[in-house]
Amino acid sequence: MLVLAVETSCDDTSTALIEDEFKLLAYTISSQNQYHERFGGIVPEIAARKHLENITYVLKDTLEKSNKELSDIDGVCCTLGPGLVGSLLVGVMFAKGIAQSLKKPFFGVNHIEGHFFAPFLERKRPSFPFTALVASGGHTAIYLVKGFRDYELYSQTRDDAAGESFDKVAKILGLGYPGGPAIQELAGDFVGDIELPTPLLRERDFSFSGLKTAALNLTKKNQPLSDSFKTNLAASFQRKVVEILVEKTILAAKLYGTDDIVVSGGVSANKMLRAVFEKRCKDESINLFIPTFNFCTDNAAMIGIVGHYFLSKGITTPLSVSAMPDWSI
Ligand code: KG4
Ligand code: ZN
Repeated sequence: MLVLAVETSCDDTSTALIEDEFKLLAYTISSQNQYHERFGGIVPEIAARKHLENITYVLKDTLEKSNKELSDIDGVCCTLGPGLVGSLLVGVMFAKGIAQSLKKPFFGVNHIEGHFFAPFLERKRPSFPFTALVASGGHTAIYLVKGFRDYELYSQTRDDAAGESFDKVAKILGLGYPGGPAIQELAGDFVGDIELPTPLLRERDFSFSGLKTAALNLTKKNQPLSDSFKTNLAASFQRKVVEILVEKTILAAKLYGTDDIVVSGGVSANKMLRAVFEKRCKDESINLFIPTFNFCTDNAAMIGIVGHYFLSKGITTPLSVSAMPDWSI
């Protein structure tokens, strides 16, 4: 069965084609970073308009790369939510339009569940049940994943998401957008020696806004900012976020007794996070699954894994469904 997947929940326009056994035939990701960069964050109105301009070309590119035609598609899936409503609407209307015109089944995927299944694009896959950390620009949460559409929320952020805090601290330091890669680059191999607070130390939930405020206060106190101070703050902030994400996830996996941990979402592209997770999982004899870099951030391939699973079982979503910007699983 050949399934077309569409993802437009935030600022990346993406399509992918998934064949039997979760085989990724081709995918395309068109990033909008250049349009949002000068605003220091995503402008929802621009994101929706750019999706509309790009989506047809993105699909054409995926079809060409895979040597397939629209008529070869047996089913269509897309992200229904959560995300920016204007962005979601473009992908949902586009995907439903293709399904209707081809008279093929349609399935709506939750963006977060897409992130859970990004490691399924690799040969070595996690086994159910697994503990999943999703850390992106919009979400930071830990789940127990017992199977497809069988999830239990363990903890989530009470304020900013981890990626959002990288973006905000990068803005405070006058670095570019997205902030995660900018902070990572500035920090280099340095771990920093500024002691930032550890919010909600003994609780399951995350909180990142206090860290951002601590960084802001430090920059106010240390004006004018020297290059070495900026590097030290970027490195210390990165180290603290990594420590929080890793330790809370390991604790969750131990409490649940799962052998496998999945780490996904844009922040999982962070080199220090990957290295520390690898070390800690080795110490604890836990198997770690992190997607390759292209599938950490938003992409349609991970959405296609979920869509393919349900469509191949004959499970569909009615075309009367619309975008669900606040859909929580
Ligand atoms: O998953 P994603 O592409 O979109 C959302 O669903 O939000 O994640 C984007 C987020 C941004 O906040 C970005 O700063 C962060 O992921 N990010 C990183 C890195 N690459 C992207 N954060 C830390 N280190 C990175 N290397
Ligand atoms: Zn995402």
